[in-house]
Amino acid sequence: MDDLIAAALAARDFAHAPYSGFRVGAALGVRDGRVFTGCNIENASYGLTLCAERVAIFKAMSEGVRREEFTMLVVSADTPVLTPPCGACRQIISEFTPASMEILLVNLQGDRESFRIEDLLPRSFNDSFIK
Ligand code: THU
Repeated sequence: MDDLIAAALAARDFAHAPYSGFRVGAALGVRDGRVFTGCNIENASYGLTLCAERVAIFKAMSEGVRREEFTMLVVSADTPVLTPPCGACRQIISEFTPASMEILLVNLQGDRESFRIEDLLPRSFNDSFIK
């Protein structure tokens, strides 16, 4: 877990956030020991901005890693109240990571708090509605 926290904090340094100045890092653990990191990447059109969480998840999925292999997601930001995933990221986390996976929020002061996606996105829309 400490490795993932360190990776999420380090990934934050790569954030491209010239518009908001708000830097976020993420680290997604895999059963085989791999770690996929992400940072937020903003865009002049604003709406095309990608959050750190989605960058980490899509990096892993683009290398063939799938839901049941993910062990833990750590999200880092520099806020006194721990920064939770936005609504779009909650949907992506809900669809592409295990329901039981720990989502650990951390800040630079060493505060930590764990959630499961069902706490953050209860009664989610999912593939059962469209199959
Ligand atoms: N952001 C993330 O990367 N993850 C979150 O959980 C919350 C928001 C980013 C998006 C944008 O670049 C900046 O933070 C301000 O919203």
